Amino acid sequence: MAANYKELRDYGCWLNYDLLPPELLARYAGQLQTTAVVGAETLTQAITAELRRGLRGLLGQEPRVVEQAAEAAVEVRLVERSEESMNPEGFRLSVREEQGALRVVIASPGEQGLLYGTFAFLRALQLGEIAAGLEREDWPRTPLRLLNHWDNLDGSIERGYAGRSIFFRDNDLVEDLDRVRDYARLLASLGINGVAVNNVNVHREETQLIAAKLELVRVISSIFREYGIRLFLSINFATPLEFGLDTADPLNSEVREWWRDRAAQIYSVIPDLGGFLVKADSENRPGPFTYGRSHAEGANMLAEALEPFGGIVVWRCFVYNCAQDWRDTKTDRARAAYDHFMPLDGLFRDNVILQIKNGPMDFQVREPVSPLFGGLERTNQVLELQITQEYTGQQRHLCYLVPQWKEILAFDTYAQGPGTTVAKIVTGSVFPQRWSGLAAVANIGDDPNWTGHTLAQANLYGYGRLAWDPELTSEQITREWVVLTFGHDPEVVATVSELLLGSWQVYENYTVPLGIGWMCNPGHHYGPSPEGYEYSRWGTYHRADRTAIGVDRSVRSGTGFAGQYRPENARRYETVETCPEELLLFFHRIPYTHVLKSGKTLIQHIYDTHFLGVEQVEEMIEKWKGLEGKINPETFFHVLERLEGQLVDAKEWRDVLNTYFYRLTHIPDIHGRKIYP
Ligand code: GCU
Repeated sequence: MAANYKELRDYGCWLNYDLLPPELLARYAGQLQTTAVVGAETLTQAITAELRRGLRGLLGQEPRVVEQAAEAAVEVRLVERSEESMNPEGFRLSVREEQGALRVVIASPGEQGLLYGTFAFLRALQLGEIAAGLEREDWPRTPLRLLNHWDNLDGSIERGYAGRSIFFRDNDLVEDLDRVRDYARLLASLGINGVAVNNVNVHREETQLIAAKLELVRVISSIFREYGIRLFLSINFATPLEFGLDTADPLNSEVREWWRDRAAQIYSVIPDLGGFLVKADSENRPGPFTYGRSHAEGANMLAEALEPFGGIVVWRCFVYNCAQDWRDTKTDRARAAYDHFMPLDGLFRDNVILQIKNGPMDFQVREPVSPLFGGLERTNQVLELQITQEYTGQQRHLCYLVPQWKEILAFDTYAQGPGTTVAKIVTGSVFPQRWSGLAAVANIGDDPNWTGHTLAQANLYGYGRLAWDPELTSEQITREWVVLTFGHDPEVVATVSELLLGSWQVYENYTVPLGIGWMCNPGHHYGPSPEGYEYSRWGTYHRADRTAIGVDRSVRSGTGFAGQYRPENARRYETVETCPEELLLFFHRIPYTHVLKSGKTLIQHIYDTHFLGVEQVEEMIEKWKGLEGKINPETFFHVLERLEGQLVDAKEWRDVLNTYFYRLTHIPDIHGRKIYP
């Protein structure tokens, strides 16, 4: 590690602002050398500093701040809201030519919009898009663009693969809070506007974050505020018990008063706190069920306490029985979220938002979309994604998740006829929701490159861009990230884009087939273990025997999960013939000799994809090696090392899974390739 790792390129992520290539530099020669920021308050410093940094880096010359805004080549101006019908988080970027000089105006009725417009301008400049005549309006399609950190006060991170917390150490704040500011800047460049800083599993020590340790929260929130980001806190539903009450019953008047008082105290210190994030009655976390109350009663109690201060309650739907008996084939974990929350539709206060994991299980490489999307009609909702690669290679494997997220967002729920996609629901354009948006579990830590694997930065970038506008394409987001990170060299752009865009499919090929899920090592979830979760209490079974594998979730003969969808999807998932094949084992129990649409048997498909996945990793390594000399050596060799590790582990997945299925079935590979008996 370099003495000062902050000097490393990878620390700068997509905001290194490298000098533009000569052809672009020539276009902007002598241009854009004065700036003015008019009307902003809290964010003036961030905007001014970003313009200076960006223009200096990209054009090689430090711009001057001028007093006369009308004379500035780049003017960032707050406009009257009445003048503009624009969203205060949106902006208008216009570029004109006046007497041979480019003049850029970034206008918004809100400071937040000015900050986002500034980042968008610098991005456009770097991409070579700034030219006279450009008129661009952009705005976040979602009001909530959230990140969830699963950081603990001791500095550890649940499911963190990039070092330790950048916020906490030994039950206190870290010393280097500048890094928090650098992080806020990265997030603001994407338009992220809310960050929950502590783990949803709120342990004893962390309950103090809303009491004795509130000062820590205040300090972090004051840094985030410089970039227009609101802080959220994960809270423990049973906190009143830690403070002398003998119940946490949400209908008990003392409990309600306790939360109201607590909220008042918190908001007196942090007036712009976003609100609470709550994991209740989930994986042994306390919740309203203890008192025979519903999740609506629990969430509403907290919402009522936060309401006077404009706070919101983000309530997670990850509720299921985590003490199942594997012998019990009637209980289906996939059904749980819908079974719990659908009956509550319409019962939540309007400052409660349900946060729904993308799939009915838990962030597997492939899952169907949660049927709560398109089910809930009268409830605020946000989609929860996982950027941290818990089940997708833990940032040791390259697995770029934007294509997966795009599939989820494009999923048609049919809630209001064809075209009612998840994207439309989370942008609030289908059902009347006061709040909607996206949330995701962060993938960063204190590693010098933030994300462990430098290419995993693309997942954070991609999430932010999709949260801003779910209709952006994977290709567009990917190209942006590659150019901003590695520059304009067409070979680099093409190769890195290709590697990223293909990597999710490659990962799926050598790991878990056709939506069956898990098959990983229990606890840490890394590496293959086909029966690692088969006899556990977690409700995650594939029930493979020597003739068949998969769970029948049809209505006719299975657990009925397929029936939780709207009729169009329910019908599709119901039968083997119409079920999308990539989800076949999620919805059906299939004999190994079943012939797939490709003409291959299921068992041959499993063998083939596992051999193919490893070959694809080998090809990825060759392609990456072709970029030597075109990518800075530090990053080049770091990524190469990760890819080589990925190859070793992909072979392990291939051999363990192929052997497992061969031993069960005794069906040989028709191509006679090596499978260990
Ligand atoms: C997964 C993960 C846990 C996490 C949980 C959650 O089960 O393994 O570490 O706490 O999701 O989303 O709450």
